[in-house]
Amino acid sequence: MSNSAEINYGGKTYKLPVIVGTENEAAMDISKLRDESGLITLDIGYKNTGATKSAIAFIDGDEGILRYRGYPIEQLAEHSSFMEVSYLLIYGELPTATQLEWFNNSITRRTLVHENIKKFLDAYPGGTHPMGVLMSTIASLSSFYPNSLNPNRSPEEVDRTIHRLIAKMATIAAWTYKKSMGHPYMYPNNKYDYVSNFLQMMFGHRTEEYVPDPVVVDALNKLLILHADHEQNCSTSTVRIVGSSHANIYAAVSAGIGALWGPLHGGANQAVIEMLEQIKADGGDAMKYINKAKDKNDPFRLMGFGHRVYKNFDPRAKIIKQACDQVLNRLGINDPILDIAKQLEEAALSDPYFVERKLYPNVDFYSGIIYRAIGIPTDMFTVMFALGRLPGWIAQWKEMREGNEPIGRPRQVYIGHPKRDYTPITKR
Ligand code: CMC
Repeated sequence: MSNSAEINYGGKTYKLPVIVGTENEAAMDISKLRDESGLITLDIGYKNTGATKSAIAFIDGDEGILRYRGYPIEQLAEHSSFMEVSYLLIYGELPTATQLEWFNNSITRRTLVHENIKKFLDAYPGGTHPMGVLMSTIASLSSFYPNSLNPNRSPEEVDRTIHRLIAKMATIAAWTYKKSMGHPYMYPNNKYDYVSNFLQMMFGHRTEEYVPDPVVVDALNKLLILHADHEQNCSTSTVRIVGSSHANIYAAVSAGIGALWGPLHGGANQAVIEMLEQIKADGGDAMKYINKAKDKNDPFRLMGFGHRVYKNFDPRAKIIKQACDQVLNRLGINDPILDIAKQLEEAALSDPYFVERKLYPNVDFYSGIIYRAIGIPTDMFTVMFALGRLPGWIAQWKEMREGNEPIGRPRQVYIGHPKRDYTPITKR
């Protein structure tokens, strides 16, 4: 196959180099096109634009493939732990036992947050959405660690910041929940692993020792692994673009949390449960909502369906669906909204509207049902997604900085007024 592509414009031919990735996906490099031809490319929503070359995650949307650093997501979800996968994403290889111990210890030693953080949390009004609290608290960590503001730090210092962020994110996430419940904050306890520690800070009480349920720990490890990276999605691109201005990593991750919050992205997991609840309260008629989703005059969308990249099935949804059945069985939970979810899935998968548009259940369709089963309240679901996505954001930020990528700055096609002269207000 040719290693260049040609564009004919204005009577001239421009040759563009073609870059081929490990899995043979090809991209036309248009970075010099504007200098040579005056043309920019227009791709609203970046539906067909490669923003970078990355070695972190590979997705084949037609085949339903997701791999982290070459390892299939199915194998990692089955055999690995969230900490091991985090190391893999950030440092590029699976850790040895010594490397994993170093990583775990370094994170465990940093789980405490400054006592003043409690004052911020206390100041929020009741009913505040935890994503807003998480976003602002993560950004404010930069004030407690001013070294992070220096863009040219040593690799050791960068490691410390990364470990600090992973450690403190779990504490802050759990504390947003404790605050919403009016319960006293639970401090981290170094005897637990990362996931169990998070659970004890969420569900533990000062009056008794918290004993993590292995079923819950296992399910949460799986969920966090499945969310850990997904290449250049909306929040990850946000993290990379904020980081590309050499803003500190807390600011970049905080911006990523903001991007994740939206219901078309990470916020879909909350929206799915709310939708299922609404269908149940409305008499449980799944078809009524399928028809609403198909009606172009109705803004309703079937939450948890569709994906920008996966056009066959979402491999994460397959794993989660299985995990969901296991968790509900093992915890002995009979959740009526699961029946509605199944009806909706069956109806959508056989309906031509959804089949033609290749709309399949995505990761968020089932994750909320598991979170609910393990006692996590609905408005914390997207926080759980953020906790899982954090190592991916960090890995992508690190790759972008180490690759000395230039500041992200898209172009536009201006469609506003041509030049016109100012008129004083009295003459308008
Ligand atoms: N319900 C009904 N119709 C839909 C849906 C849906 N959930 N998703 C897409 N469509 C239709 C859409 O109306 C359009 O129809 P038409 O061609 O007739 O105009 C067509 O399918 C293509 O949709 P699109 O909006 O152009 O596709 P996109 O790639 O821009 O959007 C998406 C992808 C995920 C934002 C979208 O499918 C959606 O809004 N889904 C619901 C929200 C959701 O579950 N988000 C979680 C995504 S997975 C977690 C994550 O990684 O963030």
